[in-house]
Amino acid sequence: MITDIEVNKPEPISSGNKTVSFKRGTDVQYAIEVLDAGNPILITEFYNNGLSLLHELHAHLSRKFPNTSFQEQRVYRSEYRKLSNLILIEIADHKLAVKKSPSIGWLEKLYPETSDFLLTFPQVQGLNSAWQWYINGISIPVLRNKLHPYYGTYFTTRFEHLVLFDNWLKRYKGPKKSAIDVGIGSGVLSLQMIKYGFQKVFGTDTNPNAIIGLAEFMGDTKLSRKIELDFGNLFGRWNKQTELIVFNPPWLPELNNMDSSDEAIYYNSKLFPDFFAGAKQRLLPEGKLVLIFSNLAQITNVTKKHPIEEELDKGGRFQLEKCLKKSVKAASEKTKRDQHWRSSEEVELWILTHK
Ligand SMILES: C[S@@+](CC[C@H](N)C(=O)[O-])C[C@H]1O[C@@H](n2cnc3c(N)ncnc32)[C@H](O)[C@@H]1O
Repeated sequence: MITDIEVNKPEPISSGNKTVSFKRGTDVQYAIEVLDAGNPILITEFYNNGLSLLHELHAHLSRKFPNTSFQEQRVYRSEYRKLSNLILIEIADHKLAVKKSPSIGWLEKLYPETSDFLLTFPQVQGLNSAWQWYINGISIPVLRNKLHPYYGTYFTTRFEHLVLFDNWLKRYKGPKKSAIDVGIGSGVLSLQMIKYGFQKVFGTDTNPNAIIGLAEFMGDTKLSRKIELDFGNLFGRWNKQTELIVFNPPWLPELNNMDSSDEAIYYNSKLFPDFFAGAKQRLLPEGKLVLIFSNLAQITNVTKKHPIEEELDKGGRFQLEKCLKKSVKAASEKTKRDQHWRSSEEVELWILTHK
């Protein structure tokens, strides 16, 4: 049952020992020393005081650490992460307790049983921006309605791969009884399939928030009878054969020396072999296996390996029907600086069939 799954959320911190507080007028140098020594600081009075302390922390760290080479940037970021997460803020009655705070509905939705607790300031910032995305929604060029991504669920604000998939679906002439969407996320690929007349889509995800969020989004509308959800690995409990399997997997291999715990972004060495083995069993003889991928790992020199090409070369299970590519629009002015490689980024739509 979907109601039994536990949602991922920042762990509430109980308000315990006396903590140094930070407000306007507090000696900044002293506050930074407290953080440097590994002790927490509580933001009081105004939300803005939290923003100023983060600002001061940045200033302090850029004096302390050079921040130019890639390695230095990583040290800087990890130090910033460590110290900024010592900055705490209080939640009382499901609301931020300081004045002029944003109102964040997740505090009520995700913590129905805990009304008073502490979170770190960066966690609250994350909840706040996720709430804005959720409330305002995201317009997706290939969908009529906006998407409202649930807290902690993958969504994208670049749409080239969705356009590729949409164009392919438009021309698809095969049967449309059912499909499987592995790693359904915020549901965008499933909604595209429903738009083109698929009667039933089975969606899975290992992220509980994706499943909980979509179940909430669909409620008991007509859509909820077309998209069935399962919280589980790869194909979850779907064992029946289907005419279409789609997967927009993580695009980067996990690396030992980095935090690669985000399953929407990083894949481990088992993911693709297990996926292709499962897909082999569940794809009808004339069915299509559709994968979305990108050359991101290759152009950023993370790996030369391409898990789909590897499967085609060595797997002995599938053959290539076609691969469609589309270059990704240049990044906006704001982000261009560090992302010169983006100019050669391409998304890929792979269509495979049984061998
Ligand atoms: C790149 S996101 C794509 C989400 C969505 N399908 C889309 O296209 O926007 C990958 C999704 O796969 C999920 N995922 C990763 N590993 C998985 C696994 N082994 N089984 C099921 N889902 C998985 C992630 O949680 C994430 O939601």
